[in-house]
Amino acid sequence: MADDRLVSKDADSQDDAIERSLRPHRLNDYIGQTAVKSQLAVYIQAALKREEAMDHVLLYGPPGLGKTTLALVIANELGVHIRTTSGPAIEKPGDLVALLNELQPGDVLFIDEVHRLPKIVEEMLYSAMEDFYIDIVVGEGPTAHPVHFPLPPFTLIGATTRAGMLSAPLRDRFGITEHMAYYNEAELQQIVLRSAGIFNMTVPESAALEVARRSRGTPRIANRLLRRIRDFADVADTELTVRLVDHALDQLQVDDRGLDAIDRKLLMMMIRDYDGGPVGLNTIAANIGEETATIEEMYEPYLLQIGYLKRTPRGRMVTRAGYQHLNVPFTEQ
Ligand code: ADE
Repeated sequence: MADDRLVSKDADSQDDAIERSLRPHRLNDYIGQTAVKSQLAVYIQAALKREEAMDHVLLYGPPGLGKTTLALVIANELGVHIRTTSGPAIEKPGDLVALLNELQPGDVLFIDEVHRLPKIVEEMLYSAMEDFYIDIVVGEGPTAHPVHFPLPPFTLIGATTRAGMLSAPLRDRFGITEHMAYYNEAELQQIVLRSAGIFNMTVPESAALEVARRSRGTPRIANRLLRRIRDFADVADTELTVRLVDHALDQLQVDDRGLDAIDRKLLMMMIRDYDGGPVGLNTIAANIGEETATIEEMYEPYLLQIGYLKRTPRGRMVTRAGYQHLNVPFTEQ
């Protein structure tokens, strides 16, 4: 008989499951983020030596760079359990109490999108993080009374795409703050080769480098492209070569710098309709039919990083390099 849970699994969650299977478990197997790793190695060692919970950690940076993976690695290295959740999933104080109630001494609570916690929940976290207790009000009306609820020492790992979105009181309660930067091509190449090994695929270093070059500095994208390229190779029953990578990525409309159709649509719209800018973020979003937050968190950071876009006080502008990439003559702005 078909298993309902399997039948209802959509393509996305299958991709998620594959993505999870590619995650490293140890700090030594985690490729890239060298500075972050060497700092964390010290804090992990210190916590182990003192037999204490490690201080709370805030990981910030663009999506897909491995913040969740790093949280899992930290918990694994500490030899503790990890509970993972996200800001929007904790809707009310009771949800937070339920999560905290399950923690054992030293455990990690991972909150993704920690900038999206409801205010009332965030405020409860302050005493939980600082002094390991929460005060909750039990009952309603005349029977309402405060209950002091002590917690085991634990480590909160918060992840966010934008540290600036965090309130100061919450940000200040993280003893450790780490910025995740885009990966370089050599690191992404190693990640592709490692993932290929897990898939039992033979990928020449040259083909892995080509995938790396077109992955926007982002392991999640590198792994996703690798899976799609594997589909092309399997269907054509051919070796995975640079030529095949080229062919597959052309089909996927991923260009030689890794820009996808939306990146190009964004730049082209700014050039065509606004002479390259300056254009406000909301205007960009409205014009290409994406959410402002999606533009700001997913598309813009990489375009800024590679110098195709720049920020000015009056809005975003396409740079000379951006024009060149799209083969449009640059007009002095
Ligand atoms: N898979 C995804 N991100 C990774 C990383 N940083 N190191 C190793 N494997 C990964």
